[in-house]
Amino acid sequence: MAEIMNKSSDTHRMEKIVSLCKRRGFIFQSSEIYGGLNGLWDYGPLGVELKRNLKNYWWRVMVHERDDVVGMDGSILMNRAVWKASGHEDTFSDPMVDCRVCKTRMRADQVIEKKGARQCPNCGSKDLTEPRPFHLMFKTYVGATEDESSITYLRPETAQSIFVQFKNVLEVSRKKLPFGIAQIGKAFRNEINPRNFTFRSREFEQMELEYFCRPEQGMELLEYWKEERLKFYENIGISRANLHVRNVPNEESAFYSKGTYDIEYDFPFGRQELEGVAYRTDYDLSQHQKASGKSLEYFDEETKQRFIPHVVEPSAGVDRTVLALICEAYSEDEAPDEKGKMEARIVLRFHPRVAPIKCAVFPLLKNRESLVVKAKEIVDLLRPCMTVFYDESGAIGRRYRRQDEIGTPFGITVDFETLGEKDPSLRDTVTLRERDSMKQERVKISDLLELLSMRIA
Ligand code: GAP
Repeated sequence: MAEIMNKSSDTHRMEKIVSLCKRRGFIFQSSEIYGGLNGLWDYGPLGVELKRNLKNYWWRVMVHERDDVVGMDGSILMNRAVWKASGHEDTFSDPMVDCRVCKTRMRADQVIEKKGARQCPNCGSKDLTEPRPFHLMFKTYVGATEDESSITYLRPETAQSIFVQFKNVLEVSRKKLPFGIAQIGKAFRNEINPRNFTFRSREFEQMELEYFCRPEQGMELLEYWKEERLKFYENIGISRANLHVRNVPNEESAFYSKGTYDIEYDFPFGRQELEGVAYRTDYDLSQHQKASGKSLEYFDEETKQRFIPHVVEPSAGVDRTVLALICEAYSEDEAPDEKGKMEARIVLRFHPRVAPIKCAVFPLLKNRESLVVKAKEIVDLLRPCMTVFYDESGAIGRRYRRQDEIGTPFGITVDFETLGEKDPSLRDTVTLRERDSMKQERVKISDLLELLSMRIA
């Protein structure tokens, strides 16, 4: 019973999250006015900021703060030979099953097993087709003729452009093993059954690092990157209690992998993968060397050995992490209204580092020119360093509530004390309100920039 209740409250929670995302401009259905297109989403004004903050932080931690990683930005379309060599053209498929009664199409792992019998998760029928492979890459044609010679695919992962540029990047960056190449970019998969909001989409973004090493370093680096990646999620505000590491059994991972961890998150719809950390051995570089006839070997100056490096790959989904951030941040509590009466509030408790808007600035009254001028001065002071929202409409409590709902961590109110009208010692000070605790402190305007910059770093 408890489980049923939890399930329904989790479904309810997810519905509220989806509705908030649309209402406040985080995520919209793609092509909505035409009825949408399944598995495709658009990020609105706040969603795009959240997504950018996440990608920028990933880039900062994975590239800028390290000596051993460089970045690249590869094209989405590549020579078809890449997909042949990587094995995607022949094997990148999911087993698909159809229900002959309700016509639901699903991945084989979505079929329910009850007392040894397979059942449709939608209508319960046992009349299902046998699983058959469904190819996940989107096929397209490059150039004016649509024939076999012009076929290629929208990339299903960003990793392959890193592998095929390995030699160029190695030469220009003059890095020594171990070193990595990082990339953030779009990937496309014609998923059989996109679902759970943006969790399984047909177009999504990945943040991938291919970390090249000597063969004997592979297993140790797999552990290292798993730990680094867990730290990353904690540093963007995802609690460790909601993160889980799954040691993927051999039979589930790629045949060339010597070890794979999935980092999973407790979404309201269940525990699901956020990121895979895989030791891919030298499979990809070997395949491309064989197929292209170009050497992708590394020459070790010290030992005078030539060999194909191995690779450990932490591969994270941008959209899944954005969804995890929103799910983690969503909360409901109570806050006092204008008259001090407690009322329900929805608050997104984003870590300030990822929050779309860092700070809101409010003049206490919009019809007092001196308050408005001062508030706008503060906006101008902060704006070069952070996203700021200026709001003068409605009661101050309402304005706080609107910002709580979109996860703005700090609110600044310019009041009569700021003007020095009540107490000259308070001139040029403001109230700084913190979203989660709702605590207010009196701060000098001249201290604001440093104080806030520290808290959002
Ligand atoms: N290069 C390795 C690779 O692509 P993957 O496990 O297939 O491995 C890595 O994908 C990550 O990309 C996943 O952990 C997930 O976060 C994200 N991802 C994969 N398919 C996705 C989809 N259909 N929608 C949203 N994100 C997806």
